[in-house]
Amino acid sequence: MSSHPPRPAASGTLPDLGEIASLLEVALRRVETTFDRALQSDLPPVQRLVAHLETYRGKMLRPSLVILSGLAAATPGSSSPSSPNSSLRHSIAPSLLSDAHITIAAVCEMIHMATLVHDDVLDEADIRRQGATVNRLRGNEAAVVLGDYVFSAAYRLCATLPSQQAALLIGQTGMTLCAGELLQLHHRENFSIDEPTYFEIVKRKTGSLIAVACKLGAMQSLGVARLSEPGDSHLADRFEQFGLKLGVAFQIQDDLLDLTGDQGVVGKPLRKDAELGKLTLPVIHHLATATPQRRGQTLQLLEDFGPAAAKKLLEALDSTRSIDHAHGAARELVAGAKALLKDLPESAAKATLMAMADQVVSRAS
Ligand code: FPP
Ligand code: MG
Repeated sequence: MSSHPPRPAASGTLPDLGEIASLLEVALRRVETTFDRALQSDLPPVQRLVAHLETYRGKMLRPSLVILSGLAAATPGSSSPSSPNSSLRHSIAPSLLSDAHITIAAVCEMIHMATLVHDDVLDEADIRRQGATVNRLRGNEAAVVLGDYVFSAAYRLCATLPSQQAALLIGQTGMTLCAGELLQLHHRENFSIDEPTYFEIVKRKTGSLIAVACKLGAMQSLGVARLSEPGDSHLADRFEQFGLKLGVAFQIQDDLLDLTGDQGVVGKPLRKDAELGKLTLPVIHHLATATPQRRGQTLQLLEDFGPAAAKKLLEALDSTRSIDHAHGAARELVAGAKALLKDLPESAAKATLMAMADQVVSRAS
């Protein structure tokens, strides 16, 4: 497959921070075009539903991670210095990004969109990114089938790649995130759910897609054929673990925003998790550490949760420093994620990945 670097660096040189920002911007526009083409339908009512997905488009976190992981892994000397491939790595730098990076980035964004469309049905949500959800506009039936359409298109697009590796990993990720969602459904209204179970759900429903985005981005730069080399295979795994930790931290922050965020800023209905019987990290920590009397009061609050109970729940969580506990867990995960990439040679792509990791836990939307 041919390479179309949006802004070719001179042979052997690597982009600086400013160049990475514009490289990323141009790459993301290409991802959007690939996304739109892959979902195109000849039927106007279907095309209108597809067009509505544009209102769901957010920070493009997953495509950005594919691109930046690809660029960071392409930096000369990224696998261990003793790797027999380190000299080969120099030949990667000039081409920077391939069409496969763009395809994988679009696939990850499409799967993310499909999960959001389905998730809003499960959560009975009527607002996403300040706009109406598909289920609110067209009903649950259309939203379920639109999610299926987008997921099928993503899988089809993935199958256009020359290697089967990406399709295998994406198929596995689809199963993993559905299993995470099913586990969450299984534990709805379970007021004894523990932290390991919460982490299992979150790793699967959110972490898995972010992990595979980082892994596949790096793999495309390393070249699938060379992944049999221990140094390169280890490097791809490190990017995967980086994404997994980042993904879990992202969901903890998402769950914190549900409790403490400002709806106008976040752009979706808040205080919904407790109402739907979904216990998140601060609540799980609180119930495990509160005095029996306080625990009893909180359980009563949760049994009959509504908008009026939100303030009382926050007071209860404060009494056991449970919001701080969840913030601390998210920050620790981000630190662990960054440590995994610490040994990579310095590059603007690595610096941007590190900055993005910090933003995951400092964001307000
Ligand atoms: C967000 O949770 C939900 C997910 C990260 C995963 C949802 C997955 C499914 C519904 C399975 C469907 C799968 C496919 C392949 C189509 P949240 O409700 O906490 O996030 P939110 O606050 O953004 O709504
Ligand atoms: Mg939701």
